[in-house]
Amino acid sequence: MDYTKKILIVGATGLIGKAVAEELGGYYQWLGTYFSKKSRGMTPLDIANKERIKEIFDTESPTHVVYCVNLVGGVDFCEKNPGSARTFHFEGAVNIARECLKHNSRFVFISSECVFDGKKEVYEEKDKVNPLNIYGKCKAEAERWIQDNLKDYLIARTMSVYGWDPKTKAPNAVMNAYFTTLKGDKVLIPTFRWSNPTYVKDLAKALIELCLSKESGIFHICGATFINRYEWLKKTFKFLGWDSSLILPQESIPKNIVLRPHRISLNTDKFRNKFKTRLHNLEEALGMLKEDILMENTICKVH
Ligand SMILES: NC(=O)c1ccc[n+]([C@@H]2O[C@H](COP(=O)([O-])OP(=O)(O)OC[C@H]3O[C@@H](n4cnc5c(N)ncnc54)[C@H](OP(=O)(O)O)[C@@H]3O)[C@@H](O)[C@H]2O)c1
Repeated sequence: MDYTKKILIVGATGLIGKAVAEELGGYYQWLGTYFSKKSRGMTPLDIANKERIKEIFDTESPTHVVYCVNLVGGVDFCEKNPGSARTFHFEGAVNIARECLKHNSRFVFISSECVFDGKKEVYEEKDKVNPLNIYGKCKAEAERWIQDNLKDYLIARTMSVYGWDPKTKAPNAVMNAYFTTLKGDKVLIPTFRWSNPTYVKDLAKALIELCLSKESGIFHICGATFINRYEWLKKTFKFLGWDSSLILPQESIPKNIVLRPHRISLNTDKFRNKFKTRLHNLEEALGMLKEDILMENTICKVH
């Protein structure tokens, strides 16, 4: 156990925060926060409550902080609820970042490909941001604030994160499709949306490696395979032996859809050249996902 560091995971009960906590395991001192999913050993926090944030920093003095708070409903919900989007993706992040500044803590912020407009296919860290939707605007604004005010920070931009967590309130694309088809319902999946699906354990390892390094600045972190969403889910279902017949292609972009970059990839060379964590391709990542599902099912049977 390394007692020189104490890592605070804000939103440790979500897809990414939970994976970060699991990777840190017993090797590092860490404390997680939860909002609605009361979890043993974790501390409650509502990101809008500045007093509570201050109290956690004053009592825990974290050396490193990873911000994993999210709003259920993603890009679509943010567009309809710009006030909440700003509370979570800008003000919440800034409230935490301000305490990091006071306590000299290193801050890790998770951002998204939605800071870009998608006019290019592949974006590098130094490319100019130009978000198309409220979610992307909040992320870009938070990125700006962090860069202007903090010295010791990391901004990790990622996309299409997936993993296996049946208890989640906000199922990722793979779980969403699985549970919908399990009920016997068809699921329409866009062929026009291209991205690099990112396996959550790769992302968590990368975030920890970044967090514990001496680097600062922006890094792109995503899986190695560029694929459209329909092909991604079809492949995943086939690999896992699930019935993919209810997964149907959605070929054209619906008229009233929230604006977003539909065909976009993040160049990860900067991360790959400096760090050891492997960002796997889809086949490799599906192998790991399969193991996780088997493990989860075994644990469920035992309990
Ligand atoms: N998932 C992706 O594909 C993706 C892609 C790019 C960037 N990101 C970014 O990565 C971050 C984490 O995403 P995720 O997918 O892991 O999110 P998630 O699974 O939805 O988890 C959200 C976390 O936020 C906590 N939370 C919710 N409301 C809160 C509140 N009012 N105060 C404090 N905490 C609250 C939740 O706690 P409870 O569970 O206890 O309620 C949970 O721990 C987000 O900032 C997101 O924008 C995600």
